[in-house]
Amino acid sequence: MGTGRARVAASILTADFGNLYRAVRKLEKAGVDRLHLDVMDGHFVPNITFGPDVVASIRHLTKLPLDVHLMISEPSRYVERFIKAGSDSITFHVEVEEPDEVKRETLRTIRTARRASGLAVSPKTPTSAVEPYVPDLDIIMIMTVEPGWGGQKFIRGCAPKIAEAAAYFKPRPHGWEIHVDGGISRETAEIVGGFGADILVVGSALFERGHDTAREVRLVKMFADEGWRKEIGKGEPPIPRDEWRVVAQLPKAEAEHLSRRMEEKGIPSLVMRTGPLIEGVEPERVVMVPGTVEVYTRKTFKLGFAEEDEL
Ligand code: DX5
Ligand code: ZN
Repeated sequence: MGTGRARVAASILTADFGNLYRAVRKLEKAGVDRLHLDVMDGHFVPNITFGPDVVASIRHLTKLPLDVHLMISEPSRYVERFIKAGSDSITFHVEVEEPDEVKRETLRTIRTARRASGLAVSPKTPTSAVEPYVPDLDIIMIMTVEPGWGGQKFIRGCAPKIAEAAAYFKPRPHGWEIHVDGGISRETAEIVGGFGADILVVGSALFERGHDTAREVRLVKMFADEGWRKEIGKGEPPIPRDEWRVVAQLPKAEAEHLSRRMEEKGIPSLVMRTGPLIEGVEPERVVMVPGTVEVYTRKTFKLGFAEEDEL
């Protein structure tokens, strides 16, 4: 987890496949937030890695969320198997030569299984290629290297696509992510953070000889948040991703009603009892939302602002 905004998904592509158990334990200890699993078929990309069985065995090794990145030609044929293998999110490439309707169906299949659905955009593809699919998407993954191998050099010119992708999700208050994949390290994290990347995929930088993996994870997150602060926050640090904020305190029935209206608008909410338990007295409830949607929620439901509450 961690306190800031940026999150790290570790790509195990350059890990020692002979000892996945050790690699996964090491990444867990280093504080990565998720694992990013690169599936390659030797057709969509020249390289071949692994399939759903390896995903399933990694699923048994860890409780970390698994982001599966499919670099394969026919995602529609295999998607069910990756769902069964225990993937938490499945992202395939918008460039695959399947009809639009099939791609859309695949995204819906992923979502129906209650996993997050994503499309990845290769360096030469414009971000606009994903626009028609946005209603069926939870993730847009911007590639900052050509898909195929770990350890390649970051393509700086692709970074602005992160902001372009985020703009497509703007009308949705919550529940989407921009991933950036390829050549991310402490050197490049600030750039992608400055364009608003949520999830930074980090591969070879975590497995470099002599590097302390935990320190690299901390540095990548720190620099990404620093980039966000400078470029997006106008000097203010980002709101921590896992922070919940109280937006109202109301009698039980009203709090529950408000919470339901929030959920209808796509805002997750928590309703919690306040104060001590006194027999015969029904305590009020606080309604909480993720810090990142506090301002939106207060505006939408006319709840006033935190400063006013304090007056
Ligand atoms: C590239 C893969 C990436 C890659 C990241 O095809 O999708 O996930 O392994 O590794 P690094 O960080 O080494 O570029
Ligand atoms: Zn990847």
